[in-house]
Amino acid sequence: MILVTGATGFVGRSLMAWLEREGIAARAYEGRMNNPLQLRQELEGITTVVHLASSEARGRNRLLNHVDVDGSERLVEEAKRANVRRIIFVSRLGADPDSMHPLLRAKGQVERIIQRSGIDYTILRTASLYGRNDRYFELIVGLAIWSWPIVWLPGGGQICNQPLWVEDFVRCLVKSLSRSTLINKTITIAGGEQLPYAALVQQLLAVAGYHRFPLPIPMLIFRPLTPMLFNWWYWPAVSRYFMDRFFVPEVTEHDAVYRQFGFQPARIRDTISYLRRPGLALRIFRR
Ligand SMILES: NC(=O)c1ccc[n+]([C@@H]2O[C@H](COP(=O)([O-])OP(=O)(O)OC[C@H]3O[C@@H](n4cnc5c(N)ncnc54)[C@H](OP(=O)(O)O)[C@@H]3O)[C@@H](O)[C@H]2O)c1
Repeated sequence: MILVTGATGFVGRSLMAWLEREGIAARAYEGRMNNPLQLRQELEGITTVVHLASSEARGRNRLLNHVDVDGSERLVEEAKRANVRRIIFVSRLGADPDSMHPLLRAKGQVERIIQRSGIDYTILRTASLYGRNDRYFELIVGLAIWSWPIVWLPGGGQICNQPLWVEDFVRCLVKSLSRSTLINKTITIAGGEQLPYAALVQQLLAVAGYHRFPLPIPMLIFRPLTPMLFNWWYWPAVSRYFMDRFFVPEVTEHDAVYRQFGFQPARIRDTISYLRRPGLALRIFRR
């Protein structure tokens, strides 16, 4: 039996649907991460935990420490007590316990907690994921809609991206469950295309049906502007962590998914028709 934390989130919803289709017995963790009693109850009879719960979307460092770092520590303690055999954790490319970026630092800290737990683990470090209701491509388009007639390109839009379609990511996640060769491994995966932010924005806007004039904004201005903007302006759907990707490139080998899991991830242009739906302008105001 598998327990999935964060099952109601963007990745979790897709994972639960995949597990059901594959006939793999799994249940969603329904408590809060910092509730040891609830963790203890729900971990009973569990052999594998897929750990997705995160407060990343809230964009608050305090919550990251509380939910992601302390919550994972609690989870590991209770998992040891319950004799859980394996934990699969979804981390980010660039995760590093010493990173200057709070999200990547928290991810690095959680990785370390899991690696030192003594429980078999697999850590999948992935680039940002996209798909219907994401907080990535839909936000890029939403922000461009609002910044008519221009679209901002931090750093001239030169930073490279390697987005991975959420369905392909979940396919990797499901394959990991039965791969003993991935036990005690930390692997990195990303999509099959590496492209500069400017080219990515152009492609997304073309599919969504918007035209905007690109306006490069130097990193020298963007860097101090970001914390000012997000400390002062509560804009729920665009967290400050969204901006980190302009400072730390999210790229790895272009064939990482194929080498690890034996299939080619979908091309971006074939998987973004969801950007044509109405209402994207409002997505940036929602969680
Ligand atoms: N999406 C990406 O592009 C991406 C890329 C790399 C890595 N990841 C990682 O993959 C994981 C899943 O990402 P996601 O995009 O699916 O995140 P998400 O949509 O923000 O979902 C987060 C999940 O965590 C749950 N959660 C939040 N606070 C909690 C708490 N205190 N106790 C228990 N559950 C809590 C949420 O439930 P409630 O809504 O009920 O609070 C939700 O189910 C995260 O660890 C994320 O960092 C995501």
